Amino acid sequence: MSAIKHVAIIMDGNGRWAKQRLRPRIWGHVRGSSVVSDIVQAADDNGIKSLTLYAFSTENWNRPKDEVFSLFKLLKKFLQKEKNRIIANNISFKVIGEIQNLPQETISMIKEVEELTSRATGLNLTFAFGYGGRAEIIQAFNAFALKYPGQTLKESQLNQYFYRPEIGDVDLMIRTGGEKRISNFLLWQMAYAELYFTDTKWPDFTPKEFKNILQEVSKRERRFGNINQDSDV
Ligand code: FPP
Repeated sequence: MSAIKHVAIIMDGNGRWAKQRLRPRIWGHVRGSSVVSDIVQAADDNGIKSLTLYAFSTENWNRPKDEVFSLFKLLKKFLQKEKNRIIANNISFKVIGEIQNLPQETISMIKEVEELTSRATGLNLTFAFGYGGRAEIIQAFNAFALKYPGQTLKESQLNQYFYRPEIGDVDLMIRTGGEKRISNFLLWQMAYAELYFTDTKWPDFTPKEFKNILQEVSKRERRFGNINQDSDV
C-alpha cells in the first residue's frame, strides 16, 4: 500500500443520488460534503501523503446559479466545521484553481485555513475548486515564459509552476458515480496514474470501499512504460 502516495478523487454522482431519492440536486451535494471528512480521515489512516479532491471544475460554472452558489456555501461550511480537526491532525490544506470569482467570504475562509495549516507536515489535502487541468498547464507554461523569456521548457521543470507543486504525480485516480472519464482533472500529473472507476455514487462512498480500492490497486503492477524483468511479455 505504501506505493500509493497521491490519491486524486472525482467525487461524482451527487445529483443522481439525490434524484433517485426525489430530492433536489443540492441535497446530494450536502450529503456528499459530509462524506468528504470521512474520506480525508481514511486517507490519513491509510498512510496516503496527498489527497486531491475535485470539488468544482471550470465547466461547473455553467450549472444553474443556485447550485453553483450552494457549492461555494458548502465549501465555506466544510472549512468552518473542519478547521480545528484539520489543524489538530497536522493536515496541510490548499485550494488549487481559479477562485477569484468566488464570494469574498468563501475566499477569506479558504485563505484562513490555508494560512493556519501552511506549516503542517501531515497529509496534503487539496481541493480542486474552479479547477481545469488544461488551464493549470497553460498558466504554468506562461509563468515559465515570463520568468525565462525565449527559453525552452524541459519536462522536469513544469511541475514547479503548478498550483501546488509538492503534490506531484498522481498514483491513483478514483472516480465515483459510474462515468469513465478524467474530465480535465490533473491532466499532467495523471500521466502514469492507476485509474479506478466505481459505480458507487459519492454520497454512498465509504472509508471501507476506499480501503478496498487501495488494497486492490496496490496489487497492480506499475511499470511506468518499462518492462517487468521477471516476465517475458
Ligand atoms: C459531481 O456530482 C459533484 C460536484 C460537481 C461537486 C462535488 C461536491 C461535493 C462532493 C460537495 C461539496 C463539498 C465540499 C466540501 C466543497 P454531480 O452533481 O455532477 O452528480 P451527477 O453526475 O449525478 O449529476
